[in-house]
Parts: sequence; C-alpha cells; structure tokens
Amino acid sequence: MPHPSASAPTPTTSGTDLSAAQVARWRRRLAQRLTVERDLPWRRTRDPWLILVAEVMLQQTQVARVAPAFERFTSQFPDVETCAAASRADVVTAWAGLGYHRRAVAIHESAKVITADHNGVVPSDLEGLLALPGIGPYTARAILAFAFEDDVAVVDTNVARVLARAVVGAPLGATAAQRLADSLLTKGNGWAHNQSMLDLGARWCTATPTCAGCPLRRSCRWAREGWPLPDPAWRTAGTSRPQERFVGSNREARGLVLARARLGPIGPTELADLAVSLGDERITTAVAGLVADGLLERTRGGLRLA
Ligand code: ADE
Repeated sequence: MPHPSASAPTPTTSGTDLSAAQVARWRRRLAQRLTVERDLPWRRTRDPWLILVAEVMLQQTQVARVAPAFERFTSQFPDVETCAAASRADVVTAWAGLGYHRRAVAIHESAKVITADHNGVVPSDLEGLLALPGIGPYTARAILAFAFEDDVAVVDTNVARVLARAVVGAPLGATAAQRLADSLLTKGNGWAHNQSMLDLGARWCTATPTCAGCPLRRSCRWAREGWPLPDPAWRTAGTSRPQERFVGSNREARGLVLARARLGPIGPTELADLAVSLGDERITTAVAGLVADGLLERTRGGLRLA
C-alpha cells in the first residue's frame, strides 16, 4: 500500500457533510446488512470483568493471539477479587505472550481500585471506567457496549476505516469519526452493531481491502467512485500510525528481560547472559524502563519481578 501523498486531503475534524437523510439511510442499511461474523471467547459473556480483560488485551494485540491468552488469564483470574488479591508478579506472569506488559500492571491496579472503591463491581458509567488505570476512551466505550449493552459507538482503527471509506468517502478526524459512529447506531442494538463493525473492518475493509464479498460493497462510497486515491482511510484518525518494528526494538528487549525474570530472580550471571544477546545499552534501557514501570525491582546485584 503506497504512503499518503502530499496532496491527500486534510482529515475532516468537524462535520462529515452527510445530511440527516443520508445518516438515516446509512443507519437502516447497517442494521440490515451487518452481521456478527466471528465467534470469539469474550463475545460469549457479558461479565464486565471478563470484557475489561479482553478489551485491554485487544488494545495492542491481534485477536488470534488474544484468544488463548484470554482463556488462560481468565481461568486464573476469573473475577475482580481473585486478581486484586494476587501478587503483581503472578499477574504479569499470566500475561506471558502478549507483550506490552504495562497492561498487566494496569489490569491488576484496576482490580484493586474496583475492590477498594466500587465494592468489587466494575463501574457501568464512562466516568467511573475512565478513572481506572489503563482504561482510555476507546476501552471504556467498548466495556459499556460489550458488557452493559449500552448504545455507544466503539471506534477503533478498523471501524474508522470503514466509516471513512464506505460512509463518507473522505478522511475523518477522531472527533468526527466518533460523532458519525454514534449517529449510525440503532437504539437497542449497540452490542451487535459494534461487534459487526469491528468484524467488517477486520475481515473485508482491511488496510488492503477485499471488496468482493463485502456486505457494503454496493453502497460503499469509495468503491462506487472507483476507489480513487488517496484512500480515505490513509489520513483517518489512528489508521496510519506505523507499528514500531519489533526486532531490535526496546519492546523486544523488555520482553526478553521479563521472560527471564519469570523464571526466577535475575543475578549477575543471568544479566551477563542477557547482555550477550542484547548488548549492554539495550539491556540498560530495557531494565530502567521496566523498573520505572513497576514491573521489575532491583535487588542487591540483580533484579526480580516486582
Ligand atoms: N477489538 C477490540 N474489541 C474487539 C472485540 N470485541 N472483538 C473483536 N475485536 C476487537
């Protein structure tokens, strides 16, 4: 996929240029055509704790990798109380294979806050959810929609791409994308609507789209116009952020150090082994970050899980 050209239009940040009648038509069309396409473990429950765990896992990790990790993590920590009572080291260990371990710490801290401040009941309002560690506006809305079946629109990268291409035919800023998505929800159908929109973006309207077979193929504005470039998704909110290259990255180094720490305390010998594979500079940066994030703690001459 080529990069956005310099002449790509500026993202729309205020309106979407859709009339009320067009919005109403799209709302009807989406209600008729969208289906929930994937059976995923977190779609078989409405338990807010399990949904919170799934949504935090899904923030930065692909569905295929999250599915087994979700089953494993939630069988060890099936409810808020169990997680809150566990040690940080146990929670971080159960996060194995997912990367971005700060999320494990955030889940653990959230469990403690929910226990202390909410009697162990996951908040069911935006404000209460946003006050939890690691829960941003996207995740909070996803919990409202998927656990409490609230009629709020969930807009991630995939959904924003669908809106920009199919509905507007132009790039969308984050605010405009959220407002448009909210206006397209049918009352009482928030759960299925949001899951279907995620599925549409993950299955058909991918970065390089598969338009043949897409349920919106005949109404998609971008397709009807003959897929003119630049692709409306290119400068749409959150869709063009390049992923940090993993090999050689600090994220890779952090993962290796944490994997070693899960086996037991890291002493001078283990540190020397790690330095052979990573180099002194990478190990120093990774360790400093992991200590600052509260994932590791320094001991005399070494390190261990915090
Ligand atoms: N990404 C974020 N939330 C999701 C969900 N509920 N299903 C599939 N992918 C997702």
